[in-house]
Amino acid sequence: MDPSQVKIPPTKDLTVDNITENVLRTNAVCEDERTKYVLERLVSHLHDFARETRLSSREWMAGLQFLTEVGKICSEVRQEFILLSDILGLSILVDSIDHPKPPGSTEGTVLGPFHSHEADDMAHGDCLSRDVQGEPLLVVCSVTDTRGRPVEGVKVDIWETDSTGHYDVQYAGRCGPDGRGVMRSDSAGVFWFKAITPVPYPIPHDGPVGRLLRLLRRHPYRPGHMHFMFEREGFDHLITALYLRNDPYETSDAVFGVKDSLVVDIGRAGPEYAKKYQVPEDHALLTYDFVLVSDAETSALRERNSKVAMDHLGRKVKMVNGLPVPDLD
Ligand code: BEZ
Ligand code: FE
Repeated sequence: MDPSQVKIPPTKDLTVDNITENVLRTNAVCEDERTKYVLERLVSHLHDFARETRLSSREWMAGLQFLTEVGKICSEVRQEFILLSDILGLSILVDSIDHPKPPGSTEGTVLGPFHSHEADDMAHGDCLSRDVQGEPLLVVCSVTDTRGRPVEGVKVDIWETDSTGHYDVQYAGRCGPDGRGVMRSDSAGVFWFKAITPVPYPIPHDGPVGRLLRLLRRHPYRPGHMHFMFEREGFDHLITALYLRNDPYETSDAVFGVKDSLVVDIGRAGPEYAKKYQVPEDHALLTYDFVLVSDAETSALRERNSKVAMDHLGRKVKMVNGLPVPDLD
């Protein structure tokens, strides 16, 4: 590049105290307002982090080496960066910011690295698990909007581990999807299926993230849960899960995903359920009513929360595509 065409302010002789403002001025040439704002805040916090901790070169090299190892172990089925984000609480934080929920609606939780698009379409009543060792579970759910009206035709993605606590994608020689399926809610907003009772399991901890957990004296376990993902035009995409009450890890989930509103009791099918869903009486039963939030409700709430957060920080902002950027006018 012709050096005379360089359009950044001169940067030379930078110090601990003025490096930040200079990097920010250099990045400020960026034309996309949101990218510029996100990078400005990222650089500011990273620099403050280094100054506040008096970060040594050795420590920073160890950090870079750690991130290199996280990258090296990543593959289609081993998402170590997602795991890192999860155990640092960042995944659940971003989900809560981006998918705010009005009272009474179903809360979201971490997606985790084990969702797969390779899942069979299921009819109501099908069983999503081939694991004969698991405890059979009947699951009967409904989907409504925030006004209590049934929502028909919602695409519901469901996934769970087998009875040993492994997802199908964790088996090298697997033959097709298992423990997962996709179905649609009917005209009453109902969907139902058979599965197995979820069990607690450790997140993958044989890589750099596991090492970090051990260094922090943390365990890698998640309480038993079943994942659900809801998609329907006009509604905010909902990624959530139901957690079993009294699981030994209910209050110490390695990835901070448990919310009280998502904790469920496993009941027993009475005569009515047994007859209607053709299971033996006393069969394990999970019921839940999911409440979806419309796109319009979500956008309005997200924007309101953004304004409150920016006011707290004393920032003058405007919204661009629903996200805050500095208002320089
Ligand atoms: C999961 O629930 O599948 C999961 C979530 C976060 C990290 C690892 C697994
Ligand atoms: Fe899971």
